Amino acid sequence: MKQTFVLANGVEVPAVGFGTYKAAEKNEEIIKEAIAQGYRHLDTAAFYDNEREVGKAIRESGIDRREFFITSKLWKADLGYASALAAFEASLERLGVDYLDLYLIHWPSPADGTDSYMERDIEAWKAMEELYRAGKIRAIGVSNFLPHHLNRLMDRTGIIPLVDQLEFHPGYIQKAAVDFCQRQGILVEAWSPMGRARVLGEPLLQEFAKKYQVSTAQLCIRFALQCGVLPLPKSSSAERMRQNMDVFSFEIGEEDMHRLMTLPQLGWSGEHPDREWVKPEG
Ligand code: A2P
Repeated sequence: MKQTFVLANGVEVPAVGFGTYKAAEKNEEIIKEAIAQGYRHLDTAAFYDNEREVGKAIRESGIDRREFFITSKLWKADLGYASALAAFEASLERLGVDYLDLYLIHWPSPADGTDSYMERDIEAWKAMEELYRAGKIRAIGVSNFLPHHLNRLMDRTGIIPLVDQLEFHPGYIQKAAVDFCQRQGILVEAWSPMGRARVLGEPLLQEFAKKYQVSTAQLCIRFALQCGVLPLPKSSSAERMRQNMDVFSFEIGEEDMHRLMTLPQLGWSGEHPDREWVKPEG
């Protein structure tokens, strides 16, 4: 298996990215550690409030910025044309870079009860298309968009999103959305590829971990890759960061993939783009 994915526009992306959400107070050290462990694909967002730390960690690594693949995201409050342009510039400024590798609309709905939110998505997308054409972003995409959101966007705009970042892990594979994206040539990225660690104790995963002599976390990450989905694991420990990248020397068999794909729903975050936040139990 290759260690990069290639987007529909030819841009190459390191196949395992590092999720920086809630990298806690020691944010900067965690990001520096991830870079030291070999991560070059870093996933941040304006909402994570850590773009400055990500930018600083990259600069202080002494590694050429062009070796990194940096993603950031447009927050709900900034949907719209002028607000998207301003939010993008603010992200660049906080990161201290002059281009982004990938910029995503974070969620389709601004969550303020408006019914016409797709208008604001479409306006934001037009701003992103301009930035993309101007060479300020190497790839543009969305996050948490389901097929009906994608269809509404694609019906009214020119460029098909190159990426859709979705919650994805064993027990929540969003098959309809993933199939839709893959048919359109949209790369799916997985946030919470191990269900915020909630799926790691699942007996089937533990059985397979023994069988393949890997950890349940490695199984989750490999599972995403074998589904053609790019995983973005998070971790605060150097050992686990390393482990989460060490997923290219084993392969999950076809029958075992089917068993993982058909697990009953588990580990779901409770966040759905068309609903108010539903706090998961436990
Ligand atoms: P930690 O920071 O202590 O490593 P997700 O990316 O699905 O949201 O999951 C993140 C959670 O999974 C974090 O709580 C993280 O804890 C934990 N985690 C990450 N990698 C591993 C691993 N290899 N083994 C066990 N837990 C892990």
